Formats: sequence, C-alpha cells, structure tokens
Amino acid sequence: MDFIKTNTKNHLSKDEDFDPPPPPWGDIRDVTHKTRVDIGFKDEQAWKQAPAIFDEHTLKIFGHPVMEDWETPYMKELAKIATSKGGIILELGYGMGISASFIQNADIQKHIIVEANHEVAEKAREFAKSAKYPVEVLEGLWEEVIDQVPDESVDGILFDTYPLSELEIHKNHFGFFRTAFKKLKSGGIFTYYSDEINTYHPVHLQKLIDAGFKKENINGEVIPMNPPPDCQYWKADTMLAPIVIK
Ligand SMILES: C[S@@+](CC[C@H](N)C(=O)[O-])C[C@H]1O[C@@H](n2cnc3c(N)ncnc32)[C@H](O)[C@@H]1O
Repeated sequence: MDFIKTNTKNHLSKDEDFDPPPPPWGDIRDVTHKTRVDIGFKDEQAWKQAPAIFDEHTLKIFGHPVMEDWETPYMKELAKIATSKGGIILELGYGMGISASFIQNADIQKHIIVEANHEVAEKAREFAKSAKYPVEVLEGLWEEVIDQVPDESVDGILFDTYPLSELEIHKNHFGFFRTAFKKLKSGGIFTYYSDEINTYHPVHLQKLIDAGFKKENINGEVIPMNPPPDCQYWKADTMLAPIVIK
C-alpha cells in the first residue's frame, strides 16, 4: 500500500505520542461547535425529507454546511484508504458524491452507499446509473438501514456523515465504531472524517479500542487542509485520515 510509505505517521507507535497530550476538545473546535449550535438542530427524522441545497461548491441542509468541495483532497485520501483492499466498499454519507467518485476510480467489486436525506439519495441513485462498479443505495439513517449489510461482509468503510444533533458535533463518528467493527471482514479497513487535527484524542482512541480494534492496528495519515476563512466547521490546516484495520 504505497500511501503507507508517503506522508504516513504512526501516531501510536510510541507512548511519547501522547506526551504532551493532543489538544483537548476545545481550542478551535469551540468556534466550530458554536457555529452549528447557532444554526440549530431539528429532529433527526426531519433531515430525511429536508431540501438539499446544492450549489457549485457546497451542500447545505437546514442551513448547515454539510459539505464543501475544498475538502476534495481529504476525500481523495479517505477513498484511497477505504479502497486499498479492493472488494466491497461501504460508504456512509453521499453528500456531493466527491468521495464516491474517488471510490469508483479504484479497483473494487461493489459500492454500497448509505444516505439519510431523500434528495441526496436521489443523486446517489443517479450516480449509480453510470458508475463503473455496481452501486447499491440504502436510503435512511445508517442506524435504521445498516442491518441490511451482513456482518463481516465488507472490505473497506468510508464514514462521513454529519452531526444531526448538538451532542454529535465533532464526534458523530464515535457512535459508528462498533458497527464498523461488526461489518468489516477480518483484515478490512476503516476510515472516516476524523475531526482530529493530527492525532487521536485519547477519548477517541479509547472508543476505537472499546469497539474491538487493536491499538497496534490504529494508525493514520496527516492530510493538509485548506479551508476558506469563513468555513463554519473546520479551521485547522491539517486533518487526520484514520487507517484502522480489523
Ligand atoms: C459530509 S456529507 C458527505 C460528503 C461526501 N463524503 C462527499 O465526498 O461528498 C454527509 C452526508 O451524510 C448524510 N447523513 C447525515 N447523517 C446521516 C446518517 N445518520 N445516516 C446516513 N446519512 C447521513 C447527509 O445527508 C450528507 O449527505
């Protein structure tokens, strides 16, 4: 896997990686937490039927900055990690379809897309019509539809949803870790929009371990990020791309 050789930092190889500890929840995340609290959250079920407002560079739902295309290099990296073992790829959150396109550029067998918003799911179904590899779209909150994906059946997972409640801001991935472990084949690979600047916060790391992943199989790559100054959800110039193997 050539991405392991380039720009890869094993965050967990030495205890010193935690000393001094990474920044606590806080720092710039205070700002990006507040922006979303200020926009406000509706009932999760309402998200499904909400209008999806696309322009050339962004996707907004209920006024939330759900996806912006400056993230393309990060999405490319996540797709590269998720598809590095080929086979069946499970993607959660279609958004603007940026990572989905990168997944289809890889050598895979099948691409399963889970998407909660109806209008975005329609886009995913359109995408499926001309996709190189077969795409199955499961519409609904992942929490509702994930049982349709058999346990231990997928080779790679890319998780990139969006917080649907204040509690989930910067940690909507935490609730998925146990499911990721269950759905992956042994040796399968898991990556996701990490909300981490350059290393795993100890709480984050512990959640992965509690879900069943072994510490020595939890690594990552630090990816340069270049958010516009007015971005409401990310302010740092890097983000960790997790490389987590079952
Ligand atoms: C950040 S976007 C995904 C961006 C995508 N990776 C791309 O490259 O364009 C998040 C997507 O996840 C969907 N979503 C949010 N919560 C979800 C959930 N619980 N289950 C499934 N999809 C969800 C949103 O509707 C949105 O389309």
